[in-house]
Amino acid sequence: MTETVRVHLAERSYDILIGEGLIGRAGDLIGPLLRRKRVAIVTDSSVAPLHLDALKAGLAAGGVEASALVLPAGEATKSWEQLSRTVEWLLAEKVERNDVVVALGGGVIGDLVGFAAAILRRGVRFVQVPTTLLAQVDSSVGGKTAINSPAGKNLIGAFHQPSLVLADVSVLETLPRRDFLAGYGEVMKYGLLGDASFFVWLEENALDMIDGDVAKRIHAVKRSCEMKAEIVARDETEQGDRALLNLGHTFCHALEAATGYSDRLLHGEGVSIGCTLAFELSAKLGLCAQETPSRVRAHLAEVGAKRDLADIPGDLPDAAALLTLMGQDKKVIDGQLRFVLARGIGEAFVDANVPTEAVLDVLQGALAGR
Ligand code: GLY
Repeated sequence: MTETVRVHLAERSYDILIGEGLIGRAGDLIGPLLRRKRVAIVTDSSVAPLHLDALKAGLAAGGVEASALVLPAGEATKSWEQLSRTVEWLLAEKVERNDVVVALGGGVIGDLVGFAAAILRRGVRFVQVPTTLLAQVDSSVGGKTAINSPAGKNLIGAFHQPSLVLADVSVLETLPRRDFLAGYGEVMKYGLLGDASFFVWLEENALDMIDGDVAKRIHAVKRSCEMKAEIVARDETEQGDRALLNLGHTFCHALEAATGYSDRLLHGEGVSIGCTLAFELSAKLGLCAQETPSRVRAHLAEVGAKRDLADIPGDLPDAAALLTLMGQDKKVIDGQLRFVLARGIGEAFVDANVPTEAVLDVLQGALAGR
């Protein structure tokens, strides 16, 4: 069964297809977008051995030829150097304005290739074929593309929507459990930010889904994409509501910076921990019930996901230093820290006036638990 979620953005609208075996049908699915039956694929050295041949075969089955560029795997690939290499390769492949570039990979590849497509010949279309849970539910949808700068992550980029997203849940079978659970942080985030009944569904079904239940995986990816699509359609360029998608992210970005963007903490793990801290902060400010953070934490514990600062190996800076790292988050506006807080599960909102002392208290409490 294939599910379709439409992202409604006027002439930039597109479909997200969610199902099994979509890569094997890539030629038929991408073919209608093509003026000539040829695409350029960009992927990385982790994904290529697992899925590149299957994608090429799926394209060929629909009469679509493909060439491929394989970049190094890892966050360091989101650099000027690899962007320039990608753009020059696409030019050497004679990719024209009406052609389509295919991004096959996780968030790093999706962000970099999307940005390359945004600037190549002032913009060519691209298709996302996300291969991680995190990319399927978050980074491949919504058109944020970027590379990193020494000054921070994702600081150089553009909004450039894909023309199609193929979220093939079959590829999740090869995803290491740690990566799956990290992506799960973003799935849970959707329930916490805007759909209490989805969170209840996750409390009842997440373990099956994590253990491989395909129908439940499709449902979780679909509901996540529906929620993201709805928010992006309301606020494509993050002037307002799109910031809700950053629930847990202000804490997460400080923790990622504190751990050097290393394997000590994957982005989605930081989101899970950040969500529990955002609910702790909301409870401290009297916005939600005192027991709500424990419910979030208990759920993460049940599925075996990271939830506390104690789950991060190695030393962490003190609360004041973490607060400073939060101040460097790109969501700071006019020097004010903006947080996504919640009045309860499924009831998030953006608050630009959070007292610094409350944030420090939460961080001190969380550090004391280590
Ligand atoms: N990942 C947050 C957003 O796309 O806005």
